[in-house]
Amino acid sequence: MTKKLLVTFVVMFVALLTIIGFILIKDSGKDIRPITSTVEPTETPEATVEPTIEPTMDPESDPRFTSTDSVLVFANKKHKLPDGYVPGDLVSLSVSTAYGDVQMRQEAADAIANMFNAANAEGIYPVVTTAYRGEDFQRQLYDNYVNRDGQEAADTYSSRPSYSDHQTGLAADISCEANGYNLNRDFENTAEGQWLAQHAHEYGFVMRYPDGKQDITGYMYEPWHFRYIGVEEATALYNVDPNMTMEEYYGISGGNYAE
Ligand code: DAL
Ligand code: ZN
Repeated sequence: MTKKLLVTFVVMFVALLTIIGFILIKDSGKDIRPITSTVEPTETPEATVEPTIEPTMDPESDPRFTSTDSVLVFANKKHKLPDGYVPGDLVSLSVSTAYGDVQMRQEAADAIANMFNAANAEGIYPVVTTAYRGEDFQRQLYDNYVNRDGQEAADTYSSRPSYSDHQTGLAADISCEANGYNLNRDFENTAEGQWLAQHAHEYGFVMRYPDGKQDITGYMYEPWHFRYIGVEEATALYNVDPNMTMEEYYGISGGNYAE
């Protein structure tokens, strides 16, 4: 009886060892994780990309276009400059001028100097007639034109005081000797007029009153009037369409006077 029990025990012990051995062989080579890693690492969730919602600021009230501190400040028949506005950083231009001292805001003065240097290096000699014009000077000019041609005609080519691009200190009228320093349509056929039309944006200037855009700008074609807005902005505008107006590009109202 004892012998039988002993044999049974030995058989069971061997069987147990066989089972344990089998399990060990089966699991060998498997990745053995530390006991502590009972929690499966969760996948790092993809960073949720929230769509950036640009605040939709009405360009009509955007300080980029309304603040006189901005080089994008608008002056047109729908956008009047503050009464008595005089830019704080006017400097005399170092470039060739037809009628003596002419001023612009510092940044625009530096840019026009760069532009004229580049033109001169290619044998192109633009000449500035006027650039910054104060409110009183603009009033004299406008009144003279009204007396000469009548108000309706004058309004197509001359701004009323406080509405002139020239009062921003960021605009310049440019002609050349070959055009008798005149500001007229013929300037577009001169080497200077053509060079400026093609390269002004590289120095931060746009042709402010392009051909065929009178309903938008409020003024006749002026191939001589260049407005500084900075290289990046001028180049972006030019690359969309060289004949595009600031009003179209920035979505700002223009056209005629409200009253
Ligand atoms: N000739 C431009 C429109 C002005 O008078 O400001
Ligand atoms: Zn002008």
